[in-house]
Amino acid sequence: MSKQEINVQLRKTLKEKPTGELQFGHSFTDHMFIMDYEGEKGWHDPRIVPYQPITLDPASIVFHYGQTVFEGLKAYVAKDGSVQLFRPEKNFARLNHSNDRMVIPHIDEVFALEALKKLIEIEKDWVPTDEGTSLYIRPFIVATEAYLGVNPSNEYKFMIILSPVGAYYKEGMNPVKIAVENNYVRAVKGGTGEAKTAGNYASSLMAQEIVSKDGFAQVLWLDGVEKKYIEEVGSMNVFFKINGEVITPALNGSILPGITRDSVLEMLHHWEVPVTERRISMAEIAEAHENGTLEEVFGTGTAAVISPVGQLTWEGKDYIVNNGETGPIAKKLFDTLTGIQYGRIEDPFNWIVKID
Ligand code: COI
Repeated sequence: MSKQEINVQLRKTLKEKPTGELQFGHSFTDHMFIMDYEGEKGWHDPRIVPYQPITLDPASIVFHYGQTVFEGLKAYVAKDGSVQLFRPEKNFARLNHSNDRMVIPHIDEVFALEALKKLIEIEKDWVPTDEGTSLYIRPFIVATEAYLGVNPSNEYKFMIILSPVGAYYKEGMNPVKIAVENNYVRAVKGGTGEAKTAGNYASSLMAQEIVSKDGFAQVLWLDGVEKKYIEEVGSMNVFFKINGEVITPALNGSILPGITRDSVLEMLHHWEVPVTERRISMAEIAEAHENGTLEEVFGTGTAAVISPVGQLTWEGKDYIVNNGETGPIAKKLFDTLTGIQYGRIEDPFNWIVKID
């Protein structure tokens, strides 16, 4: 697959770029990457084409049985004007991990990164430059075979689309309010929780819809069996600082292995901040709050970056964290992570991949 030529067809008239404050995920660039898979031929016909609707058979497996995976990463304009990516190889590795779970054929990770770089070179002018903005990158694969039997598809499309974005939450980087979910569950052991697949997000919509009416940004999911142990928030992994120690739920098969989560762990180790990955219950968080040792709560994700949590609500009780303000560890992580991503500070971890 790496030897394949990427065919490029540019659009004649470019779109108007959005003006004003950028929101998350509403506008899309001039071009997209697309390639096809068919049983015998494997992945073939990689091309960059004008951004456009695609035609699929109504019987395509993705519509009926949700055989699909996706990724999320970002491109940033650095201080020197160049465009750069953050750990993109991790996203394509995770895409293949999700492919395994969803019985989708692997993509060539090296080739996918080459294709992404080529697409971004073409769309360079779409990478926004205002504070806190970036170009969100959405690689995804859908099962396109027209067949109503419940079987893995023999045909797929791999696509990459790009969207200039601002902050994910309407609160921007201010602390968000999160409701701990007691009725619904996101994932169970042995399920698809650790794959980045549409079904996990579809199953989260109802709980989120209910709590959003009360002003909550998202829900915090508990484990699917006992509903005791903390898993993750809808679009981010979650960290707690209790009595000087940072704790995050250990990856257990039902939690998404976040790339920002991994980067945060690396930064904390580097700074010699005590940090533990382990099972942690909501009762332990409530107790830490009662005895005054719950210092900070924050979420991590590509879209969410580092999002401080100012309030957790569980079983009808509000737990206000750090007076509803951003804590020092969340702030230092945010400043360092975004400093590296936007080329404002040195990258001691080798995370940055330049486009040029
Ligand atoms: C990301 O952080 O890129 C995600 O995939 C979360 C998303 C569902 C908005």
